[in-house]
Amino acid sequence: MLTDAEHPPTPRRASLSHALSGRCRPPGDKSVSHRSLILGTLAVGETRIEGLLEGEDVLRTAEACRALGARIERLGPGSWSVRGPGLGSLLEPRETLEFGNAGTGSRLMMGVVAGHPIAARFDGDASLRKRPMRRILDPLTLQGARVLEEAEGGRCPILLRGTAEPLPVEYKTPVASAQIKSAVLLCGLNSPGRTVVIESEASRDHTEKMLTHFGASVTSEPFGAHGRKITLEGRPELRPAPVRVPADPSSAAFPLVAALLVPGSEIVIEGVMTNPLRNGLLTTLQEMGARIALENLRIEGGEEVADIGVSASTLAGVDVPAERAPSMIDEYPILAVAAAFASGETRMRGLSELRVKESDRLEAIAAGLRANGARCEIIGDDLIVRGGAGRVLGGGTVETHLDHRIAMSFLVMGLAAEQDVTVDDDRMIATSFPDFRALMEGLGARFA
Ligand code: S3P
Repeated sequence: MLTDAEHPPTPRRASLSHALSGRCRPPGDKSVSHRSLILGTLAVGETRIEGLLEGEDVLRTAEACRALGARIERLGPGSWSVRGPGLGSLLEPRETLEFGNAGTGSRLMMGVVAGHPIAARFDGDASLRKRPMRRILDPLTLQGARVLEEAEGGRCPILLRGTAEPLPVEYKTPVASAQIKSAVLLCGLNSPGRTVVIESEASRDHTEKMLTHFGASVTSEPFGAHGRKITLEGRPELRPAPVRVPADPSSAAFPLVAALLVPGSEIVIEGVMTNPLRNGLLTTLQEMGARIALENLRIEGGEEVADIGVSASTLAGVDVPAERAPSMIDEYPILAVAAAFASGETRMRGLSELRVKESDRLEAIAAGLRANGARCEIIGDDLIVRGGAGRVLGGGTVETHLDHRIAMSFLVMGLAAEQDVTVDDDRMIATSFPDFRALMEGLGARFA
C-alpha cells in the first residue's frame, strides 16, 4: 500500500508551454484492462491480452486474480498471458486482497468472490477506505454472499464470503454505475439461473461486451428513456478469447484538453476508444466549439476506435445535462479546467457521484479552480464554472487527495495558465497513466 511514510508525496509543477505538437498514444483503457484479467481468470485455458494498462490499479487486479488461482505472466510491454482456473474453480486467497487506490478492481472482484464458495478480505489505501461499498455489498448479499466484517459505513477492510450457488436476481441499480452492474453480473455468472440488472441511465458496457466475447449469453435491451435491462444466463462455458485493449478515452482527455488550451497546438491522439457510452466529453467539447476531428474510425478488439485530431480552440461555456454524466463521469475534472478557459458559464449538472470517487471530486475541483483564480460555484449537485475567456491566472497549489485525475487535470491547467500551477502530489498518476509526464513532455508540455 502507498503510505506517506514509505513514499513521501511528490509535488509537481506545470508551466505555460509553447504550442503542443505531434502524435501520441495514451495507455490501454483501465476499465477494459481490469475486465480482461478478470475474465481471463474465469475462463479455463490461456487468454492473451495486448495493450494492457500497466498502471498500479490494474496490477493490483492481476495480483488479486493470482491469489484466486490464475497464472498470469507479462510477456512484453502491454502483452500478458492469463491462465485461468475457470468459473467455479477459484481458490480461497490466503492473504488480504490489497487494491491500493482501485475502486473498480476491488468492486468487480467482490462480485467474483461473491459467486464462489470462498472468503476474501478486501482492503486498499486511505482513499479506497473512504469509498462506499454498501452499493456493491447490498446486491451481492441478495445474491447469497455474506459480509463477515466491514469497517464503519460499509467500507474497507471488508471480509466477504461468497456462495457456491448465487441466487438468480433481478436488480435495479440505485445509481448509474458500471461497477455495481458488473459486480452483480460477475457474481451471477456462477448462478444456475438468470441474472438481470436494470439501470435507469446506461453505464459503460465493457463487462457485457467482454462476457459475450468470452462466450456468455448476455442481452441488453433499452429500458425507459436512457436506461438498459441486461440479462445474463448463468453458468456459461467461458472460453479464453484474445483481448486487444484500445487507448483509454479518460486518459486521452488530458492531452486532448491540453492541445485545445495551449495556443497554436495541433496534435493527433491515436487509437482512442470511442464507445458511445464513454464519449460524453467529446460531445461536450464539440458543443463548446472545440476543433476535434475523428479520423480513421475502425473496430479494434470489439470496440470502436479512432485517431483524434485536436487543434487549439476558442471555447464557449455550455450546459451539460445530468443524463450525460455516466458517459463522462471521470472527465469532469478536466472538463472543469477547459471550462475555466472558456468564455461564459459552463453548468455541469447532476454530479452527486463525483463526491464518492477517488476523492470528493466536486469539492476538489472547486478548490483547485479557486486556488488558481478561476471562478466557480457548487449549487446542489451542479458545478458552475465562470470562464476567463482564454485566461486563467494560475499560481496556486492544488490538493489532490490521492486522486490521479485531479492531479493530471490541474497539471494541464498549468500548461496554459499565466503562472505555474502546482499539484501537491503526483504519485497517484501511476494508478492509471504511468507515462503521463513522458507522453505530455513528448508533445511539448513543460513540467518541473
Ligand atoms: C468504471 C466505472 C465508473 C468509473 C470508473 C471505472 C468501470 O465508476 O468512474 O473509473 O470500469 O466500471 P461507476 O460505475 O461507479 O460510476
